[in-house]
Amino acid sequence: MTEREALDAAALDAAGRHTRKEDHVRLAAAQWTGGGPRSDFDDVAFVHHALGAVAVEEVDPSVEMLGRRVAWPFYINGMTGGTEHTGRINRDLAIAARETGIAMACGSMSIALDDAEAARAFTVIRDENPDGLVMANLGVGRTAEDAARVVEMLRADALQLHVNAVQETVMPEGSPEFGSWLRGIEEIVRASPVPVLVKEVGFGLSPRTLLRLQELGVEWADVSGRGGTDFLRIENDRRPGGDYAYLTGFGQSAPACLLDAAATAELSPGPVLLASGGVRSPLDVLRALALGARAVGVAGAFLTAVDSGGPDALVPLLRTWQDHLRDLSALLGARTPADLAHTDVLIRGGLREYCELRGIE
Ligand code: FNR
Repeated sequence: MTEREALDAAALDAAGRHTRKEDHVRLAAAQWTGGGPRSDFDDVAFVHHALGAVAVEEVDPSVEMLGRRVAWPFYINGMTGGTEHTGRINRDLAIAARETGIAMACGSMSIALDDAEAARAFTVIRDENPDGLVMANLGVGRTAEDAARVVEMLRADALQLHVNAVQETVMPEGSPEFGSWLRGIEEIVRASPVPVLVKEVGFGLSPRTLLRLQELGVEWADVSGRGGTDFLRIENDRRPGGDYAYLTGFGQSAPACLLDAAATAELSPGPVLLASGGVRSPLDVLRALALGARAVGVAGAFLTAVDSGGPDALVPLLRTWQDHLRDLSALLGARTPADLAHTDVLIRGGLREYCELRGIE
């Protein structure tokens, strides 16, 4: 390849990555019109105990997460950054996170490693939110040095490392080079100056995967399951011909992953579990906490508000979630998120069938 051809290829690659970021936001937002899809969270029901409630003032919703105490057990999950539009989304998410004391992550910063202008679409997060818990984000294909650079860029408290094999398989420009992933995770975890949180992007982490992660030294994992933002559909919609439509439904939901992990003796203790994927309401947050998540990530349910109305739309939404979360915790008799583990939970429908098939009692 001549130097000129290499430059053209790099420009094409950068343009492609910009288009992809915009496609992801547009197609994800379209999936969340009307309050989000039905999910396995609907199969998790709390038994109501009419005399079991505690006073709202007694509820302390704070949790220990990634080495810090955070005021709320839900956080804004990794979504975007790298273009002017998505930099604006990150800025607005950071303002809303600061105003409400919610932790947040950004989307993959791989683009920021090669392009100083794209990096601004991420560093704005720290400028707007100097003291909050902020997570950097990178895919597993990158080196330990790259990981340290993105953490430094954001002065991040932690690093989200995403594993997205299904997405890479279906993505038109995906790179399914999975052979180096295990070694890559191990190197990044060993060298990282901050806690590393390995996450899926909406297809779930099975007990077998969590055990591998544990062997690699991973102490935090977000199971990020199926049922919310559907990256199979997003990438398939971006494929000419949409020829992977038949894979719809691949993967496990967050409630299924949490139940599966809790039933796996070798994972006691395993990595601390976070949950995301299909969280549509404060009730879903409580359901995930009751099934064993330390804290709960939300992406799609906050995307439309922030993209169309900025912090003016997102801050009231986050405040409503906070108020409801506190009120419903009191109703369920849970003074802390950890107390939710002692609530009576019924598992119904498709989730129950999953448990039966997996031999989960
Ligand atoms: C994402 N997600 C994501 N995750 C990640 O680790 N790195 C990334 O770059 C992105 N990009 C991204 C873009 C957009 C527009 C969305 C909506 C989501 C995945 C996200 O963090 C989460 O795992 C899934 O979206 C499932 O959660 P929800 O959306 O169902 O709450």
